[in-house]
Amino acid sequence: MLIFYMMTGRDTVGTTLSWLFYNLAKNPHVVSAIRDELAPIAATSRKQEENETLKVFEAQETIPLVYLQAVIFESMRLYPPILYERKSVLAEDVLPSGHQVRAGDVIMISLYAMGGVDSVRGKDHSEYRPQRWLSRDGSSLLYVPSHKFLAFNSGPRLCLGKEMAIAQIKTIVATVVWNYDIALVEGHAVEPKLSSSMQMKNGLMAMVKRREGM
Ligand code: HEM
Repeated sequence: MLIFYMMTGRDTVGTTLSWLFYNLAKNPHVVSAIRDELAPIAATSRKQEENETLKVFEAQETIPLVYLQAVIFESMRLYPPILYERKSVLAEDVLPSGHQVRAGDVIMISLYAMGGVDSVRGKDHSEYRPQRWLSRDGSSLLYVPSHKFLAFNSGPRLCLGKEMAIAQIKTIVATVVWNYDIALVEGHAVEPKLSSSMQMKNGLMAMVKRREGM
């Protein structure tokens, strides 16, 4: 049970965070937009301790933050922590795509490839653009069915920890982005280690500095 949790919960969340901070370091305008969304909460919520110097965001505070959630989904679209879904066919059928399948066939779905298909994600699919997940005025998340964004699987075997994982990632990203500036170490090769999960081969080397005036 512990090993299962480590694979499903720890490695997936850890992998998501590495790619997310990589994307943020490359897109400073997204960091600014996250800070804009966090500012009203940081201004009203009190510090937990008198001598506390970091603003630590609580899960309850970050639940309503739609831009932050879009940032997470956008990173997982480009770098899904679990790379493949494997499905076994129980009985002969024809898929909506017209493909005929027979009992015993195995269907492999590449989540990584799906993030880069024009018909699924549009022509600008290689761009890191959190707005694609949001309504025109940016006030709410668009509905995207789980079969179109498979990072947490779809159907009866949907990830049971999805909401918990999103809550964890939101509080971590909010706290780090609010308190620190992150810059990538020049020359460090960021590349995926191809296995069943999309960990970073060499990890993410970054310079982390307290934000001025925080
Ligand atoms: C970013 C983080 C996560 C991602 C991307 C993720 C993704 C997935 C995926 C793709 C599956 C389906 C695997 C399959 O059967 O093919 C799955 C299943 C599952 N996940 Fe997650 N997961 C994440 C975090 C978590 C966390 C934090 C927990 C627990 C606290 C968790 C618990 C589970 C469980 C129990 C299942 C099995 C569900 C079932 O078969 O009925 N996951 N997850």
